[in-house]
Amino acid sequence: MFKLAHLSDPHLGPLPDPKLLQLFSKRILGYLNWQRHRSRIMGGNTLDLLIEDLKSQAPDHIAVTGDLVNIALPLEISGARTWLEEIGQPENVSVVPGNHDAYVPGAVRKARAAWWPYMCGDGASVAPSEKTRSEATFPYVRKRDGVALVGVTTGRASGPWFATGRVGSKQSRRLRQLLEELGREGLFRVVMLHHPPFKQATHWHKRLSDASRVRAVVKRAGAELVLHGHTHIDSFETIEGPNGPVPVVGVPSATSAPGGKKPAARYNLFRIEKAEGGWTCAMEEHGFDKQGEPVRLLVEREVAIPGRG
Ligand SMILES: [Fe+2]
Ligand SMILES: [Fe+2]
Repeated sequence: MFKLAHLSDPHLGPLPDPKLLQLFSKRILGYLNWQRHRSRIMGGNTLDLLIEDLKSQAPDHIAVTGDLVNIALPLEISGARTWLEEIGQPENVSVVPGNHDAYVPGAVRKARAAWWPYMCGDGASVAPSEKTRSEATFPYVRKRDGVALVGVTTGRASGPWFATGRVGSKQSRRLRQLLEELGREGLFRVVMLHHPPFKQATHWHKRLSDASRVRAVVKRAGAELVLHGHTHIDSFETIEGPNGPVPVVGVPSATSAPGGKKPAARYNLFRIEKAEGGWTCAMEEHGFDKQGEPVRLLVEREVAIPGRG
């Protein structure tokens, strides 16, 4: 049995004081937004308590699906690396970037350089320079006990007021090849990406602009489970696969305090087991319900995994 934990969108705070020059960009909007809203609802020790509970479950692996930072200031990026080190060893924690990690042009490459050990495939030894295009190192694959973790980047700098993501044609092609290969190997394929790929997942200005590409890839090549963040809500959807619907699971922000507009912080725990002719996957949602209460088990369900046809 492989125990996989999923958390997302920690939006680590508080924000360091940015130099005035660094705000002459889209960052000014994000900075004001943080000052107005996030510092209030995303503060406190919510994240620490959630992580403490998650660790007590002793997962084999932790997937972190992006938005580690807010406006991608250099100090935020290096702070996020320290936070990752507190969560676990790079070989046991897999990260994909979100739109906030790619807040302004060039940010996502800086994030990749800083978080590289947590964001690379098995056997990758040399960190790419900040000049290497981010698509060149995604998707990455990590194989652990019959499970293949496939990290896809959707984080790209977008204009003011936009929080869109894009996979791109090159990465989609590579993703299809990889999923086909991993499928032939009989592995349980977990696709991790920040933006949700199902239809009508978010507002237009926050969407994955080429979500149809991801759906087409999964429909053709298949996957056993898709994990995402971005929406800051708990969601359970499916997209078409070659042998039946593929579960697509989203989790609230790991930093959301109870009592806000969005659901309070949660993490999901998947127990993945090989069974006759396929896989079984039990899912638990752990998080906060009410203010002042500890993290507890909120939802339990059996996830239907498509067969191999
Ligand atoms: Fe987010
Ligand atoms: Fe996001």
